[in-house]
Amino acid sequence: MFATGVTIVTTQAADGGFIGLTANSFNSLSLDPPLVLWSLGVRAGSRDTFLSATHFAVNVLSTRQLPLAMRFARAGTNRFAGVSVHAGLGGAPLIDGALAWFECETRTHYRHGDHLLFIGEVKRCARAQGSGLVFQQGGFGVAGPIAEEPRE
Ligand SMILES: Cc1cc2nc3c(=O)[nH]c(=O)nc-3n(C[C@H](O)[C@H](O)[C@H](O)COP(=O)(O)O)c2cc1C
Repeated sequence: MFATGVTIVTTQAADGGFIGLTANSFNSLSLDPPLVLWSLGVRAGSRDTFLSATHFAVNVLSTRQLPLAMRFARAGTNRFAGVSVHAGLGGAPLIDGALAWFECETRTHYRHGDHLLFIGEVKRCARAQGSGLVFQQGGFGVAGPIAEEPRE
């Protein structure tokens, strides 16, 4: 029932290839210093790459990027095929058309249960215009302002 935004978290592998997956576990952790967190399933194919990467990038998806959200959650596809990106810190790809980008230096990672918790320090961030993709009740949706907020 808890509504979240949807992101694609990316990094660059040692061989120069791009790695990324759809993640809604992204959240803010601290303002000073600026820290963010997200968690990765221990069985994820990208696990070892994220564990050894110095940086990762969080791409906050817009409603127009729903097909990418689905593609980056599927195994066995070339996720970055035809996706326009530009290079972020540490080589982590920033996906064009996203709503916001956080370029992070990995501070720590801890295993808790069946997930790895990553904490990163935000080194650069940027935003664009548009409406954010939402995930709630196992499905994708859109969020918008409530036209008339009730008065107390
Ligand atoms: C909306 C949505 C949110 C997701 N959030 C996460 C997440 O926070 N962490 C995670 O490990 N997997 C998450 N997944 C699943 C991964 O995207 C999926 O397992 C992906 O194939 C993992 O890629 P990898 O095996 O290449 O690392 C999510 C999937 C969807 C559709």
